[in-house]
Amino acid sequence: MKPALVQIQWPNGQNTFAAIGADWLRIAMEAGIVIPTGCLGGSCGACEIEVNGKIVRACIERVPSEKSGKLKVDFASDPFW
Ligand code: FES
Repeated sequence: MKPALVQIQWPNGQNTFAAIGADWLRIAMEAGIVIPTGCLGGSCGACEIEVNGKIVRACIERVPSEKSGKLKVDFASDPFW
């Protein structure tokens, strides 16, 4: 049975739990993280984050299910993070 929640490790050291299928931008905000955005439609790439090493566009992707139950988030491109 798949867990309904995944643990998310954020670049600011926070750990939160999120439901699979949750909206990245919203749960990031709840963790105190502001993901930069531009188009909010999946085309500009401003909102890219790395999730377990894989680049995703936070404005259109959802929290995936993960066998280990843990996802590690990093910022993909902005050197100031
Ligand atoms: S805000 Fe433009 S791709 Fe997400």
